[in-house]
Amino acid sequence: MVRTMRLTLLQPDDWHLHLRDGAALRDVVGHTARHFARAIVMPNLKPPVRTVAEARAYRDRILAALPAGTAFEPLMTLYLTERTTVEEIAAARVSGFVHAVKYYPAGATTNSDAGVSDLDRVRPVFEAMQAHDLPLLVHGEVTDPEVDVFDRERAFVERHLAGIVRDFPALRVVLEHVTTAEGVAFVQQAGRHVAATVTPQHLLWNRGELFRGGLRPHAWCLPVLKREHHRQAVLAAATTGDRFFLGTDSAPHARSAKQSDCGCAGIFSAHAALELYAEAFDAVGRLDRLEAFASERGPDFYGLPRNTRRIALERAEVTVPAELPFGDERLVPMRAGGTLHWRIREDDV
Ligand code: DOR
Ligand code: ZN
Repeated sequence: MVRTMRLTLLQPDDWHLHLRDGAALRDVVGHTARHFARAIVMPNLKPPVRTVAEARAYRDRILAALPAGTAFEPLMTLYLTERTTVEEIAAARVSGFVHAVKYYPAGATTNSDAGVSDLDRVRPVFEAMQAHDLPLLVHGEVTDPEVDVFDRERAFVERHLAGIVRDFPALRVVLEHVTTAEGVAFVQQAGRHVAATVTPQHLLWNRGELFRGGLRPHAWCLPVLKREHHRQAVLAAATTGDRFFLGTDSAPHARSAKQSDCGCAGIFSAHAALELYAEAFDAVGRLDRLEAFASERGPDFYGLPRNTRRIALERAEVTVPAELPFGDERLVPMRAGGTLHWRIREDDV
């Protein structure tokens, strides 16, 4: 078999990204903007981004934080609460810069306290989103403490997602950061209105990584890493399936916040996102599908144009820094101190 040494692809987008705010935002946004044209920006700030006015202000702060000369389009989202109004949905649709609404079950993950406890209360909002064709982005995990943490995605699909998709058949829904064979199967059997994003960590790691030689707080994210057979199901879907596309869920936290008695969930991957995905696709001999995953299926699902510039990936051994700046603190990136096997070239495409 000929070993691909270099490939070019349309410039990618990141369909699930946490950029934070303030000094932290200034330190992380450049990592994504360097290679990605656009990103769906998560609204789980403190306080969350609940209105179009708040999304506009956050978008302005993101644009102001970009390194000079970078072209990058933040695609904004609203944080769904039990007080979100149908008027806000209509305003989001006409804004031109709000592209989706994010649903966090209250208490499911970082800054999700203002999320939804009772799905019945947001049915009118789902109705409005369906009418205005505004996608719903789902953090698909139940919060029921009786449900084992490794089963929370599967339980969410059974208890909630299936009902949402049944009751709002024209609502576009993204099962964010899919991690299980059951989540994958649900998306595959659903219609073209249902898609999923896939993170680099859920393609490259199974739950063993959390305990490799000791307890690894920098491998802790939500949904938590799963068993190997789930990783394989997610990898097969990303490398062959139609409605699975790139969403890093890059979620920076300071080292001190992760290495603590109760460490925050989130893995920062924006410094090497495409390189890590390339590694995962290469491992199963599917580099030929990387462009569809990274650059085509996302814009097609969102109804946005594909990018037109091309970038090149080449095989190279690159060492990842042990730490990166993060406001007043430092963060530990994915693969810290280790080696990447791909490098991006923008100069000679
Ligand atoms: O690991 C995670 N980190 N999962 C989430 O859902 C949220 C994210 C964050 O904001 O840190
Ligand atoms: Zn996320």
